[in-house]
Amino acid sequence: MTGLDWHAWHSAYGSPDSELTRRLRTVTAHITSALDEAPPGPLRVVSVCAGEGRDILGALAGHPRRSDVSARLVELDPRNTEAAREAAAALGLSGVEVVTGDASLTDAYLDAVPAHLVLMVGVFGNISPADIERTTGFLGHLCAPGGLVVWTRNRKDPDLFPRVCGWLEERGFERVRISEPGVRQGVGVHRRTGAPGRLPSGERMFTFIGYDVLNAR
Ligand SMILES: C[S@@+](CC[C@H](N)C(=O)[O-])C[C@H]1O[C@@H](n2cnc3c(N)ncnc32)[C@H](O)[C@@H]1O
Repeated sequence: MTGLDWHAWHSAYGSPDSELTRRLRTVTAHITSALDEAPPGPLRVVSVCAGEGRDILGALAGHPRRSDVSARLVELDPRNTEAAREAAAALGLSGVEVVTGDASLTDAYLDAVPAHLVLMVGVFGNISPADIERTTGFLGHLCAPGGLVVWTRNRKDPDLFPRVCGWLEERGFERVRISEPGVRQGVGVHRRTGAPGRLPSGERMFTFIGYDVLNAR
């Protein structure tokens, strides 16, 4: 299993030109657009393996819909959840709930979905291809009809980015926008067009292996 320090991993955000910082800017812009275009009324957001929550917190910080949003961020490392809680409190985002727990379990989301916006950022590069495909099936239950999934996947060989698009599009999602093939940290946005789903309890969607272990295979 992953031997990486997932708190230290966030230090790459300290560099304005790192691939991760560029990915964060793209993801934050997509979240902002999703909030701009969201229907009026309460909005649910869930973030799977949220880290320090920089994307959703950055988008909500100055957004006019910030008080409409109830967000559940699920992250395993307590140092990251502490950072996310502190950042949310500093921004006065009382609708942001940060849970220290296993984001791979459907039980983490049962009372928080269907969500208008599902963030799957930094996950698909850390789990097996079979688990990516399996997770795209659960996304149909996490995401409300008309809602959006913002997801990422690196473009390293083997480049699974096109297959992730295909798996989503076979499972009731339509492509909204995807990053150019030359962008190494690919970002996609897909809209739920399929029927509403009911998230099953007691299921594990994926095993978080870590890119360090996956790359060594
Ligand atoms: C690649 S980072 C992405 C963090 C964040 N989404 C971002 O893009 O900044 C992956 C995160 O998943 C967390 N993680 C690993 N396994 C997890 C699990 N089973 N449940 C919840 N979080 C997990 C790690 O601690 C790490 O913060």
